[in-house]
Amino acid sequence: MDKYDSVIELAKRRGFLWNSFEIYGGTAGFYDYGPLGAMLKRRIENIWRDVYVINEGYYEIESPTIGIEDVFVASGHVGGFSDPLSECAKCHEAFRADHLIRHIVSNPDTLCCDDLVRIIRENNITCPECGGKLGNVYEFNLMFRTFIGPGLKRIGYLRPETAQGMFVDFPRLLRFYREKLPFGVTQIGKAYRNEISPRQGIIRLREFTQAEAEIFIDPKDKTHPGFDIIKDYSVMLYSESAQESDKGAVEMTLENAVSEGIIAHQYLAYAIYNTQEFLLRVGVSPERLRFRQHMKDEMAHYAIDCWDAEILSGRFGWVEIVGIADRTDYDLMTHSKVSKVDLSVYMEYDEPKIVEKLSIKPDMGKIGPVFKQKARSIVEALQSLDVDELNKDEIIITVDGEDVVISPDMVEVKQVSETIRGENIVPHVIEPSFGIDRIIYSVLEHAYREEMVEEENETRIVLGLKPEIAPIQVAILPLLTRQELIEPARKIESSLRKKGVMVSYDDSGTIGRRYRRNDEIGTPYSITIDYDTLEDATVTIRDRDSMEQVRSRIDTIADTVHDLITGNIAFEDAGSPVEK
Ligand code: ATP
Ligand code: GLY
Repeated sequence: MDKYDSVIELAKRRGFLWNSFEIYGGTAGFYDYGPLGAMLKRRIENIWRDVYVINEGYYEIESPTIGIEDVFVASGHVGGFSDPLSECAKCHEAFRADHLIRHIVSNPDTLCCDDLVRIIRENNITCPECGGKLGNVYEFNLMFRTFIGPGLKRIGYLRPETAQGMFVDFPRLLRFYREKLPFGVTQIGKAYRNEISPRQGIIRLREFTQAEAEIFIDPKDKTHPGFDIIKDYSVMLYSESAQESDKGAVEMTLENAVSEGIIAHQYLAYAIYNTQEFLLRVGVSPERLRFRQHMKDEMAHYAIDCWDAEILSGRFGWVEIVGIADRTDYDLMTHSKVSKVDLSVYMEYDEPKIVEKLSIKPDMGKIGPVFKQKARSIVEALQSLDVDELNKDEIIITVDGEDVVISPDMVEVKQVSETIRGENIVPHVIEPSFGIDRIIYSVLEHAYREEMVEEENETRIVLGLKPEIAPIQVAILPLLTRQELIEPARKIESSLRKKGVMVSYDDSGTIGRRYRRNDEIGTPYSITIDYDTLEDATVTIRDRDSMEQVRSRIDTIADTVHDLITGNIAFEDAGSPVEK
């Protein structure tokens, strides 16, 4: 059993997650979150909200998970959101053609269908399931298609990313933000991709949760106002050039990365900073985290630059869990074209600009009587001439394919100064896109450990979840099921619930077994109520990781536990130490 199996076995057994539709045999690519998993997920999502919505001020919106066809035609997903598929001629199982040759070619996802077929044939690759002959390779669109309303007239798609809802709402969001750049918008919600053959459990789902921020910026100013504060922050970067020259990832400060041109600009660097801070806060192990830049030929159709946060997983190697893309003005431009709605922003200059320009005033009193019905076309043609053409003795213009001579007294030309206060620009978008399910798996894998407890000569399983994300934050454990202990235990339970702390009350089995049960689900603290409690109004708090214990006063226990969970106090400060 490898780490993945151990984590999933625990997750299923203890109510974190399991395959959907189990009683019908399940189907690949769908997982349910159980009571503890759903709680863990909400906590992780709320920390994400704390980072992006509360601290960055990027308000959250909620748009439909079904989109109309125009949206995904404009976004490029109808035309190009596909993976190469090859089907077995014998058992009809479908496979990602690029995955079939992963052991032969280093970047198979950059190859076209013809190349994939050629490599499959040259290497005699057959169906991994039954050994049958594999068919031709074709592009399979990953969007789930549906019909809106009765009949087959209005096509809709389940969204493959939450992002499009934010692009489509751009005009209203711009008004909400008082027509000023930069601003950011976020969305947490379901995304759907009809993955060809999802065989990586919770890593590759057909329905999954994304948390995305779209940060709309002025393309001419990619300096981030907060960069100075975070410039000394270090990250592990695996740049395109390091990959090309077969070098490894390098740890460097964001300031160096930007000044050496490894990260293209401050906004991308800031997004990498926020991503790492969030991932470490929820419990991704820093030694198993890196940021890998996309190679030019692996970039999504909308991006000019992309950095993936990748975690090292025991079974799958380096796995992308967050994609940070510079989407430029791609999406706003294409939506503007298809919807015919102007999606530009008027940006006022810091200082007005004075520009010299030609003022061309045709004299209709003279042009009208001479050219009659042609007069209007002549005036239009005059407006498009440059100064040299206008300053001739005879001005010649072409109207309806005919050369027409205009005498200079029919038009007044002069140089004037004009004050320009701003211009219309289409914002660029920086997008950190988090896959919440992959993050949950990473957190579980990085938190999972089995360790020998020497005194008890027993191995314990510990889910070392950060207190901030642990589904159950405190276990209340009366030493015995006696009324005199149950009463204070229930009182503590209720005071903690009132404080918003998630508690579990557990009075069955030995205290040792109860500790183990809670270690396994990541409960960071356990409170034991014993006979000393009745004497001195104190309880034992046990720390999951160190198994150390302190004696803490009952009247302040709710505040103490709250402070422990939020990291306001260290465990040693929660009470007086208990000798083992
Ligand atoms: P991959 O190359 O692994 O298919 P991707 O490059 O298609 O991923 P993005 O399109 O950048 O992924 O999506 C943003 C994030 O959404 C990813 O970093 C990932 O965490 C998550 N994600 C994408 N596809 C899936 C999926 N099928 N199941 C679970 N999470 C996913
Ligand atoms: N929004 C990035 C992606 O899902 O492709």
